[in-house]
Amino acid sequence: MTDTITLRRPDDFHLHLRDGAILEAVARGSLDFARAIIMPNLVPPVVDAAMVRSYRDRIMTAVEKSVPGAEFGPLMTLYLTDDTTPATIDEVAGLCTAAKLYPAHATTNSASGVNDIDGLTPVLERMAERGIVLCIHGEVTDHEVDIFDREAVFLERVLAPMRERVPELKIVLEHVSTRTAIDFVKAAGNMGATITAHHLVIDRNDLLAGGIRPHNYCLPIVKRREDREALVAAATGDNPAFFFGSDSAPHTDPRKLGPCGAAGCFTAPLALAILAHLFEAAGALDRLEEFVSLRGAAFYGLPPNPGTVTLTRGAPVPLDPIDTADGPITLFNPGFEVTWRVEN
Ligand code: NCD
Ligand code: DOR
Ligand code: ZN
Ligand code: ZN
Repeated sequence: MTDTITLRRPDDFHLHLRDGAILEAVARGSLDFARAIIMPNLVPPVVDAAMVRSYRDRIMTAVEKSVPGAEFGPLMTLYLTDDTTPATIDEVAGLCTAAKLYPAHATTNSASGVNDIDGLTPVLERMAERGIVLCIHGEVTDHEVDIFDREAVFLERVLAPMRERVPELKIVLEHVSTRTAIDFVKAAGNMGATITAHHLVIDRNDLLAGGIRPHNYCLPIVKRREDREALVAAATGDNPAFFFGSDSAPHTDPRKLGPCGAAGCFTAPLALAILAHLFEAAGALDRLEEFVSLRGAAFYGLPPNPGTVTLTRGAPVPLDPIDTADGPITLFNPGFEVTWRVEN
């Protein structure tokens, strides 16, 4: 049994850093990662080049304030709306690594997301020309569709036709949550997919059996155990399409615990430790570096990071909430003792 793991410095290909007091409080928790794809679902959303620049500056200020001298590269994204044009894409080329598609009302702060996905085709074509990746929250929002089926229905109804319309576009299906999505991505051959730490360790029993656990509520909602097992097999397997994106999504406790609680698990500070635990349990520690440090960068056409991180095994890490000026944020509890920690 090994007690230290050294990896090339990892990336987080899907991260919510928020803004204001929450950004200041959570930035530190992502600095194990060298780079992160930064989600644009602020209030209001990040919809043009000026907003992207100013958000990037606020992130760099928060990082420097948290850990002076820290090296962290935010990979910025544009929030797509029904009003996004090919000219918006030209304007953010060189500034944004990706653009994010939220079907309207799919999740937190997605009210200004896209209603008319067919109408977006000229924008998607320009993204393909400019080498901007499309990141997708892949769930339909149709109230006729059961919440547990929304990802699978999206693949058929929206994603498959979109891929036919714009075959050159590089697409990442974010936070895959079902065996169906894993099979879709494998069959597609030229797509990427991120997998979160929380979807790898909890299933719907951990959300709903024996009492509701709001801190395990996220979107896409966690599914059956067999789905989780398919995600673990993909993360620890040899298909380079699957790589890490935490979808760490902090909300304050009052927002999580009210009568209509917000979706999101705050995992970033523990993500590497949780993954080390999981990969070790799966007998796949030799695949961890591929999953968190190599495959995503390769998909995005980025060089792997210089430098390394080292994890060591020790006493259980306390899961204390983080204090912010807006209220406490509870850390995700994976349901096992977290004994790996990143050395500083
Ligand atoms: C933020 C808000 O409400 O302004 N939410 C939060 O709980 N941190 C924005 C957000 O959800 O991104
Ligand atoms: O659980 C989630 N929370 N899923 C998302 O897609 C969005 C995120 C958030 O922003 O809170
Ligand atoms: Zn999402
Ligand atoms: Zn997200």
